[in-house]
Amino acid sequence: MPGAQAAGVPRHIAIVMDGNGRWAKARHRPRSFGHNAGRKAVRAVIEACMREGVQALTLFAFSSENWHRPQDEVGALMDLFLRALDREVEELHGHGVRLRFVGELDAFDQPLRRRMQASMTRTEGNDKLLVNIAVNYGGRWDIVRAARRAAEAVANGELRVDQIDESRLDQWTSLAELPPLDLFIRTGGEYRLSNFLLWQAAYAELYFTDTLWPDFDEACLRRAIEDYARRERRYGRTGEQVATNV
Ligand code: FPP
Repeated sequence: MPGAQAAGVPRHIAIVMDGNGRWAKARHRPRSFGHNAGRKAVRAVIEACMREGVQALTLFAFSSENWHRPQDEVGALMDLFLRALDREVEELHGHGVRLRFVGELDAFDQPLRRRMQASMTRTEGNDKLLVNIAVNYGGRWDIVRAARRAAEAVANGELRVDQIDESRLDQWTSLAELPPLDLFIRTGGEYRLSNFLLWQAAYAELYFTDTLWPDFDEACLRRAIEDYARRERRYGRTGEQVATNV
């Protein structure tokens, strides 16, 4: 990970990319048209994060619940992921981006899993920006998995129950070892977390915008970062304590 962080720039941003379907509907086009436009916005935001000096970006591309969408939409999304991986990985690699997929990857078919794995291996030495793509991911799943690992460690005699604390459990979550999540963005005018990064969002600043994801561009990201830079992060302390740093 790059070293010093410019003041006011979040180290780690997560985005719920909502609004592709409505964006397409407004243009009388199928939902897959909106997802494809969303792919272009992903690219613009990755480039903008690199320019801003953000260290990690985590994108919610497919939730555990998205399997319940109509089959043709799920199929179109899988095709889109495949094509995006084929097209974009080399260029991202050239820019020093490290790609990681987080979530229950076993649920995807072999060709997609192989491409995901290959893209992670190809880019694992890069450190300009870490892009985590959350697929078949759910925040509760992440917490349950960490709890299971803790239980296994206790059962194996590697850990005592009283040694399980927040930092220990954190090590077993999907985004362990990353900078803490500073800014959580949701586009598309909904005000909920939708089971994304529940553990990691504990102290994140939340930013909601009505902009539909395909319209979210560098200027929108800049506005979100400026808004973040104005927030006072108190972590339970008073405003006076924060001001005097006691
Ligand atoms: C939510 O909008 C969006 C998704 C479920 C898919 C997100 C996928 C992309 C942005 C495609 C590209 C991603 C990568 C990583 C290549 P919605 O369909 O729920 O929109 P709606 O609320 O307007 O119906």
